[in-house]
Amino acid sequence: MENIKYNLYERKDPVVLPETLGFGRYFSDNVFVMDYNPQKGWHNPQITALGNLHMHPAASVLHYGQTIFEGLKAYYTPDGEYQLFRPEENFKRLNNSARRLCMPEVDVDFCVEALKELVWIDREWVPRGDKESLYIRPFMFGEEAMLGVKPSDTYKLIFLLSPVGAYYPEGFQAIKILIQDEYVRTVRKGLGECKTAGNYAASMAGQEIARREGCTQVLWLDAVELKYIEEVGTMNIFIQFNDQVATPMLSGGILPGITRKSSMRILRDWGYNVSERQIPLKEVLDRYEKGEVLEIFGTGTAAIISSVGAVRYGGHDFVLNNGNVGPLAERLFNELTGIQKGKVEDRYGWITKVEPLAVNA
Ligand code: COI
Repeated sequence: MENIKYNLYERKDPVVLPETLGFGRYFSDNVFVMDYNPQKGWHNPQITALGNLHMHPAASVLHYGQTIFEGLKAYYTPDGEYQLFRPEENFKRLNNSARRLCMPEVDVDFCVEALKELVWIDREWVPRGDKESLYIRPFMFGEEAMLGVKPSDTYKLIFLLSPVGAYYPEGFQAIKILIQDEYVRTVRKGLGECKTAGNYAASMAGQEIARREGCTQVLWLDAVELKYIEEVGTMNIFIQFNDQVATPMLSGGILPGITRKSSMRILRDWGYNVSERQIPLKEVLDRYEKGEVLEIFGTGTAAIISSVGAVRYGGHDFVLNNGNVGPLAERLFNELTGIQKGKVEDRYGWITKVEPLAVNA
């Protein structure tokens, strides 16, 4: 791979972050950008000042949605260091999405090195607050100007950085989620296991119903039988029954979450019986009535560990832990964010330190 070229933003004053960050509203000074064409493959890697994109109105992404993305975070540690959580997993998953959408794969090691360099350059943008971090959005899209339906010839890969706090408006309080059966989001053998824009576009009408019913998110059912619980729009779902912690298995219709996988590992190490399986909605409702549903929580990079205080279905609210954050979700949140922020020992080797570049050496 060629060396990265630099055309950095010339910052005169120190970065001052707003008191309340929310999610995805602010962006750092610079981005990483790289181009693809069939002759040169991936080429022209640059770290450059953030600016608008120039695209032909016929660019394939604008018409046929050939675009994929990832989400990961950089953290500031008590030792004054900066670190990433399992970045190679994100670039491997980006490659899985790329294969499904006929897009070019990236070199995972190069991308991790380039990302470390970008975060190092923009390290002043990594927030220091307890529940804050720098969200990283790698994304790729087809930019060939061509109205025929076919894979684009040319692509761009960009890494965008955004200092963030809590994803949901509730902050880190428990959220309420809606089960609705008017719309479905993804289907097995479709794009459900890819991180691609269409899945999120498909979720918005259901999301609007949730908002009208006073809920923050939709808990989607499987698209074929509307019988099994699958995934919340922005996170994977876990249910703590009295005898096991269950999460929907990777059916092809849901996202293989990195926080999901990490949470299962931690829970198993804590001695929980973790089961990945089909979870019928009926089982959850029946066992709720018997008092056998102890907790529900979601896992995701943006959402971290989000406790569910109530599930709304068929006009009824099924309340958990009096609508408060559940003890298992809280323990898992503390453990995971402890590892991510360098406050708990990284006993799994999940952490990558951010240092200035090895990639151009
Ligand atoms: C993430 O957790 O990184 C996500 O991609 C969820 C969302 C903000 C789309």
